[in-house]
Amino acid sequence: MTTFKINDREVSVPDGTTLLTAIRGIGLDVPTLCHRDELEHATSCMLCVVEDLVTGRLHPACSTSVRDGMTIATASPAVLDARREALELLLGDHLGDCEGPCHLACPAGLDVPAMLHALAADDFALANRIARRDLALPATLGRICAAPCERACRRGTLDAPVAIRLLHRLAGETPAPAPHGPPAPSGFRVAVVGGGPAGLAAVQALRIEGHACTLFEKDDRLGGGLRAPELHAKLPASVLDAEIDSILHAGVALETGAALGGDLSLDRLVASFDAVVLACGPMDPADAQRLGLDATARGIAVERFTYRTSRPTVFACGAAVTPSHLAVRAVGEGRAAAVAIGQMLLGEAVVGEPRRYQHRVGAGLDRDELGQFIAAGASPEPPVTPVDDATGYDRKGACREAARCLHCECRKPETCQLRRQAEAHGLGPGGWKSADRRRLVIQRQGGIVYEPGKCIACGICVRLTKLHQEPLGLTFVGRGFSVRVGVPFDESLDQALRSVAAACIEACPTGALAFVAGGRRE
Ligand code: SF4
Ligand code: SF4
Ligand code: FES
Repeated sequence: MTTFKINDREVSVPDGTTLLTAIRGIGLDVPTLCHRDELEHATSCMLCVVEDLVTGRLHPACSTSVRDGMTIATASPAVLDARREALELLLGDHLGDCEGPCHLACPAGLDVPAMLHALAADDFALANRIARRDLALPATLGRICAAPCERACRRGTLDAPVAIRLLHRLAGETPAPAPHGPPAPSGFRVAVVGGGPAGLAAVQALRIEGHACTLFEKDDRLGGGLRAPELHAKLPASVLDAEIDSILHAGVALETGAALGGDLSLDRLVASFDAVVLACGPMDPADAQRLGLDATARGIAVERFTYRTSRPTVFACGAAVTPSHLAVRAVGEGRAAAVAIGQMLLGEAVVGEPRRYQHRVGAGLDRDELGQFIAAGASPEPPVTPVDDATGYDRKGACREAARCLHCECRKPETCQLRRQAEAHGLGPGGWKSADRRRLVIQRQGGIVYEPGKCIACGICVRLTKLHQEPLGLTFVGRGFSVRVGVPFDESLDQALRSVAAACIEACPTGALAFVAGGRRE
């Protein structure tokens, strides 16, 4: 037996045990990317380093055997620095977008690619659920939004951006039954003041979580700024009314003719409800102060990301915080405030919506590189013309237009270990871009996609094909930093991974190996 210390705790394990096994054996963990218990060590990622405080040396825990007298620290400053450096090396050479540029450009955060893939597959029910979940008013915004997403759409460099705005308009106008029944009541009650885009989005997001909502509106109709005369030509009242009805349908108590400061006092709301959302349109800073709220020169002062005001159970969003707000931005803020309220009500840290690490390719892909996305499965068709301005797309046209999406986003955005480790080591959410990037390559064979720019050369797939005695299997090609995985004799991936495709794709710690149809669906 070997006796040594891990984080000041004495441990005895059989001779020859690896540090990783010993550390995990006492319920601690160190991060790994290239290690799998069933495979031989590769010792390539160096994320698993730990420090021996006796010698001051760093060791890869996955392949170092324990020695008597070691005093191992699993998270010393030197260890954390080394892990961060190892990650920066991997990320500096990584070529891919975690999320599509369109998704990041939408101020309300519509998961554009997921909605487009659903439309391309003629799954309008799924597209409707995604559009309503993220935009609250997808048909309304589909008529009035300035569509910054389309300016970010990479397809624009090849021919023309995907018509995202018109497509989510149709998705919103094609109602689908809710997949589940009404949410279980949470027992919490929230007052929302103001029935414009921010208030409606907050109500919808709060109801999804089962919080009871009472919506107070000073006018006799909901919609706020969305009923402005200058929008009438683009936005028929019937479209807005239908979307508002579907939000109210989820069980919302409505009080119209209730103006804050008149019969409606903030103190009374604070006393009667578990949380209050002020989405009541532009507010004079002096009025905000009279309500006991800190103010900026433009309106109510709120915390970044959570929209919490200086009164702890009161949140504010939309034009009440920043006047002349874009409707799509107000929708995003309403949902973000609802998320923060949910966290407060459940006693969690109030941090707002998750802000994930975002790796980005950025602009500057040339036509050859963009052509790789077409070869990997995007439709080569030029822009599909809508029926006409008033009608937008019909169902068939929408499927064809949506199929033009290049699938810029990663096919493993939730399971990628590199992304998770970047977040765990404080490298997000700003992202990391290599100054001197390689050329983008996407290889697709059959149902499998391999993107060498996302491969971290961990060798897990190579070792798995050996373990499972694939006749052809995979091998390393290239040298030094440019080493990547390849198929011997220039055969296809399908041939190389006959029996282990699913296992290799599941085990690949990044989005380098994926199924063509992979990616987040809902
Ligand atoms: S709401 Fe606007 S920015 Fe967001 S996806 Fe729609 S058109 Fe694009
Ligand atoms: S493709 Fe293979 S070598 Fe590259 S990251 Fe994935 S599992 Fe590792
Ligand atoms: S997990 Fe140990 S070097 Fe990669």
